[in-house]
Amino acid sequence: MNTLQVIEQTEKMIREKFENEGTGHDWFHIDRVRRMALLIALEEGADTQLVELAALVHDIDDWKFNDGDADKGPVAARKWITSIGGSEGLAQTIGDIISETTFKGAGVETNTTSIESACVQDADRLDAIGAIGVARAFAYGGSKSRLLWNPDEEPEDHASFEEYKKNTSSTLGHFYEKLLLLKDRMQTTAGKQLAEKRHAYLEGFVEQFKKEWWGEE
Ligand code: ADP
Ligand code: NI
Repeated sequence: MNTLQVIEQTEKMIREKFENEGTGHDWFHIDRVRRMALLIALEEGADTQLVELAALVHDIDDWKFNDGDADKGPVAARKWITSIGGSEGLAQTIGDIISETTFKGAGVETNTTSIESACVQDADRLDAIGAIGVARAFAYGGSKSRLLWNPDEEPEDHASFEEYKKNTSSTLGHFYEKLLLLKDRMQTTAGKQLAEKRHAYLEGFVEQFKKEWWGEE
């Protein structure tokens, strides 16, 4: 089976699997990441088929929704690809790309090692900022019964993925622990440019949120 056929079958499977997801990781998130990753891939001269396939499977078994095991996603992706007749080589490549996608804490470097991986990581992170990023953060926070904000909480600079995984911060706290940091961690030139406007939107949101919180506006 060639890569195009693998993409086609994968899209069908993922669309069904993520149809009713309620934490901001629904099919539309996957589809936005796929389109954004492809847009970046064209600008960066990356392999668009690899980028598309990796984007489709990047949240296939996310640590946030299994028991915290970040290796399960790449394993599940590899298994799926070979199960439908994709080659071992393709499965390995896609597993490697998505193993580099996830954010692992403010203090953990997650630089990518291939241009395809850079496209998928940037696209996933662009969907975590801007207006959609705000909406997704509160959807996720709600799904985990997190507070909107706790002004007494100090944002943490998680030094390891293990520490980051244990966090139960409020959703506004998550802006400081992840979302506001993403702009400066974009891997591609296109991603950096696209992040500017979305980052500015996040900053404006946080400012307004706090003004309303303290009754100043
Ligand atoms: P990543 O693999 O980098 O975590 P995802 O595609 O799984 O990327 O998206 C993570 C989404 O979940 C983001 O939109 C982010 O805002 C949200 N999220 C993750 N942790 C929290 C949290 N503690 N509070 C609120 N939102 C969160
Ligand atoms: Ni994602």
